[in-house]
Amino acid sequence: MTPKEKINLDGKNILVTGCPGFIGANLVIRLLKDLTGGLIVSLDNMNDYYDPKLKEYRLSLVESAAEKSNVKHVFVKGTIADKALVDSLFEKYHFDIVVNLAAQAGVRYSIDHPDVYIESNLIGFYNILEACRNSYSYADGEYKGVRHLVYASSSSVYGGNKKVPFSVEDKVDNPVSLYAATKKSNELLAHSYSKLYNIPSTGLRFFTVYGPAGRPDMFYYSATNTLVKGGTIKLFNYGNMKRDFTYVDDIVEGVVRVMGGAPVRETGEDGLPVPPYAVYNIGGGQPENLLDYISVLQEELVSAGILPADYDFEGHRELVEMQPGDVPITYADSTGLERDYGFTPQIGIREGLRNFAGWYAEFTK
Ligand SMILES: NC(=O)c1ccc[n+]([C@@H]2O[C@H](COP(=O)([O-])OP(=O)(O)OC[C@H]3O[C@@H](n4cnc5c(N)ncnc54)[C@H](O)[C@@H]3O)[C@@H](O)[C@H]2O)c1
Repeated sequence: MTPKEKINLDGKNILVTGCPGFIGANLVIRLLKDLTGGLIVSLDNMNDYYDPKLKEYRLSLVESAAEKSNVKHVFVKGTIADKALVDSLFEKYHFDIVVNLAAQAGVRYSIDHPDVYIESNLIGFYNILEACRNSYSYADGEYKGVRHLVYASSSSVYGGNKKVPFSVEDKVDNPVSLYAATKKSNELLAHSYSKLYNIPSTGLRFFTVYGPAGRPDMFYYSATNTLVKGGTIKLFNYGNMKRDFTYVDDIVEGVVRVMGGAPVRETGEDGLPVPPYAVYNIGGGQPENLLDYISVLQEELVSAGILPADYDFEGHRELVEMQPGDVPITYADSTGLERDYGFTPQIGIREGLRNFAGWYAEFTK
């Protein structure tokens, strides 16, 4: 067990970058519902990696949650790669908790668009770390500087790791995409800043997050778009692939619990800080067979009226052989999260995909 300092999130000033991204919007809505007092600043550059209309839609949900909340909410459109902007927000709002979700996501996109990964995931993250570090220099009165930095890492850091389940104890020094390399770099940078400046930081390796108003570049969503148009989806290794799928509410629950428990600052035998640093996996809890996942998705799309009642399941999926470089089974060992925060993801694919299908039916009406 890594010792934790409990932080009551009520009345705190919180920065969430990457809201209204998929996970960020869900997180902020949850915080606006649950917390009392304080302030949440959402910072996002609203880029067009996927249709920004979806981000505007999520932002409208965030803003209507804010109207019913007594937590103040401020949305700032801008990039974390803009150091002056990041510094000015930290100086103005004296954040207690920082959750960095802003990043260029996607493994394939990093092949043709490397620059944006360096800008957002490395320079942007560095700016966040520097701002956390500098927050201690102007801490005065009640404000003691940033008490916890929580940031998104990714299951992609495991690369071609063959040992399952994937554990945070595994060596992850062989990233197979630039995206993965930037996420692993975030963990390394956070470690050095935790050590040097005693910034309590926790990295979370998310495993395939899905849900309503999710990311259109992800399999369940793009498969739905294909099926709606009458197309066929390819299932590699004949659908015999096991993956962790994590419903967005479970991710949010995990993030909220982690926000409220920061690694404790301690002094080592050498008189220097022991880095208040931790990394956890958050994965669905139970690996699912891809064929089962897609079958449940199709059933739920039929139930939601998106696909016709006489829909031919077999006719719209093509079972093909394994792609080179793919691994048949990957899933998370999330025991650290259970041990330190008493939480394991709860929501199964039936419930999660039903919620997605219900939302999709409404959204595309
Ligand atoms: N969804 C998943 O399955 C998954 C899995 C592993 C890790 N992650 C990580 O979780 C985080 C959130 O992912 P998501 O699925 O919500 O993705 P998302 O793309 O919906 O959200 C990311 C948001 O960050 C914003 N953004 C990007 N670069 C920015 C910058 N330089 N400055 C300000 N805003 C910027 C985008 O506009 C977007 O709204 C990301 O860091 C991602 O890498 C997600």
